[in-house]
Amino acid sequence: MIGLLLYILVILCVSIIAYSVFVAIFFHEEIKAAMRKDPAGRSYIEVLTLYPGLHSIVMHRLTHALYVFKMPFLPRFLSQMMRFFTGIEIHPGAKIGKGLFIDHGMGVVIGETTVVGDNVLLYQGVTLGGTGKEKGKRHPTIGNNVVIGAGAQVLGNIVIGDNSYIGANAVVVKPVPPNSTVVGVPGRITHQDGKKIELDLDHIHIVDPIMQNIEELQKRIEELEKKIINKS
Ligand SMILES: CC(C)(COP(=O)(O)OP(=O)(O)OC[C@H]1O[C@@H](n2cnc3c(N)ncnc32)[C@H](O)[C@@H]1OP(=O)(O)O)[C@@H](O)C(=O)NCCC(=O)NCCS
Repeated sequence: MIGLLLYILVILCVSIIAYSVFVAIFFHEEIKAAMRKDPAGRSYIEVLTLYPGLHSIVMHRLTHALYVFKMPFLPRFLSQMMRFFTGIEIHPGAKIGKGLFIDHGMGVVIGETTVVGDNVLLYQGVTLGGTGKEKGKRHPTIGNNVVIGAGAQVLGNIVIGDNSYIGANAVVVKPVPPNSTVVGVPGRITHQDGKKIELDLDHIHIVDPIMQNIEELQKRIEELEKKIINKS
């Protein structure tokens, strides 16, 4: 019995070491990106062994290859298994560039027709998804060196330009030009090419849509009242 347990332990250790060596050789850029972008990433070994984002990218490279070869069922099965362990769901169809770092990971969803450029940083809770209205290419294209903050939702077949920042919890449904910062719901550009964008300089005469609706309804009631009075 002890012999069997020892045997299993040895097999497990050898597999972990073989996997780590494989990842260290073929995913060097991703490990370096994690160390560069995460102040908490203290050592190469720590990133190699403890970062769920890295493991989900490793699995994605395999599932994407199977997807390209039109293998049925297995790629989705493996990607769902990875989701179970890491909380990160990357559809096997998504095209992902070099040096992607998914920090923390939990709750990240990357849709089937998403394209992610090089050197991108995604935080937890990010959705690169569809609006539910489009068919075919229905997920975003993310440029190089883009940072997407925690909980941000980037929806639809839109392009997020290179070197852009999407703020935490923003909801972006329109294309974003390169070198922009977008915050809020719906996402609005606050900085572009290093300059602050003032969207509305007139802060006094702001149109309130609810007030507008109430005023329209009031007008209609007055018109109806007049009609009733004229008829009687
Ligand atoms: C958007 C972000 C990149 C900052 O960009 P920045 O260009 O430095 O922007 P600033 O800090 O100068 O803020 C610009 C304006 O946007 C507002 N703002 C910044 N981030 C915001 C956000 N996520 N949602 C809404 N408004 C935001 C600021 O209050 C400021 O408003 P003001 O001009 O009325 O004062 C950053 O705030 C952010 O959200 N980063 C994501 C970080 C993250 O997800 N970390 C997770 C770690 S676990």
